[in-house]
Amino acid sequence: LPIERAPKTIALYGGIPDLKEVPHSLIARAYRKALRRESVLGYTSDARGHERLRRAVAQLVRENRGVAASPDEVIITRGSQMGIDLSLRAVLRPGDVVCVEELGYRPAWSALQRSGAKIVPIPIDEDGMRIDALANVANVRLVYVTPHHQYPTTVMLTAARRMELLELARKNRFAILEDDYDYEFHYEGRSVLPLASADEAGVVVYMGTLSKILAPGLRLGFVIAPKPFVDRLARERFLIDRQGDHALELAVADLIEDDELGRHARKMRRLYQSRRDVLAKALRKLDALSFSVPNGGMALWARVDSSIDVDAWAERAKDRGVLFQPGRIFSLTSRRIQAARFGFASTSERDLEEAGRRLRSCATSRGTRAARD
Ligand SMILES: Cc1ncc(COP(=O)(O)O)c(C=O)c1O
Repeated sequence: LPIERAPKTIALYGGIPDLKEVPHSLIARAYRKALRRESVLGYTSDARGHERLRRAVAQLVRENRGVAASPDEVIITRGSQMGIDLSLRAVLRPGDVVCVEELGYRPAWSALQRSGAKIVPIPIDEDGMRIDALANVANVRLVYVTPHHQYPTTVMLTAARRMELLELARKNRFAILEDDYDYEFHYEGRSVLPLASADEAGVVVYMGTLSKILAPGLRLGFVIAPKPFVDRLARERFLIDRQGDHALELAVADLIEDDELGRHARKMRRLYQSRRDVLAKALRKLDALSFSVPNGGMALWARVDSSIDVDAWAERAKDRGVLFQPGRIFSLTSRRIQAARFGFASTSERDLEEAGRRLRSCATSRGTRAARD
């Protein structure tokens, strides 16, 4: 007898790479090889991470991103989250003023709240963080920013604003924590080089991750900054984690050196680009949405007109087996935002089309009040 199955849930969460595509066997082979080295299995005196991976990351950001760094200016962390937390520990005292983009990235805010900082939200628009608004804030100690693909809206900080931000940081002596979490995934036009590549005054702490190129579960990220700062992060890191997984770090260094990681990233970029196009096509059929197709990133940000209550829509969609993120969750104060983020990277084209159909079928419901703000 045929068995009735509930339709499978399609999660359009942003930022998660397609885990089915992770190159398991390449990683496993490199890891096996690394494990044969006794040196990676003991304690090490270096909390900055395996020297080969620091060297490989320094080379990668120099060649691909125009960021000049020596291996001594790199610390490998367990994902950017550790990089954020270590940097805050190194820079901040309770009560320090820290500016963040709003809308923005809650895990960074959580680390900030823990540090006792005073968080000041800075509005964003289609050109990224409003530097004119930032300039009005007094006694800023640190600015946390996602210039390449603003999180969650994916817009790029314009060249003019980048210059203004760097100049403001130099003049007012604050640090910039640049979270560059998905640099590789840019589809049209040229990627703009990170702020760190134009940082003549030494004000930028630059952070990257392998969570998007490889897999979040591997917990590999890095921070690049002047050596004394990196050494400070290493001392903080020693207290909580002593050292990273040096076997994994050596394995990944191998993958970078052999350009396996680059090959994988290029393959994923093609895959994600066509998924982006399929999702955009499916969502265009929804009149209540307005968006421009993102030229980078792993998610599409769409404004939702006031005929739909976006939070109620997200609930209805959940019942129909589609998960997406309503704008509210990216707001510091959890206020209603008539917009939503739809991730496309980890969903097949067929499922994206199906998700589009389900989203349309529940976009409006009789009796739903129009959003009031
Ligand atoms: C803004 C931002 N920063 C960083 C990350 C990556 O975090 P991690 O490297 O800790 O996995 C993400 C992933 O979703 C992100 O959206």
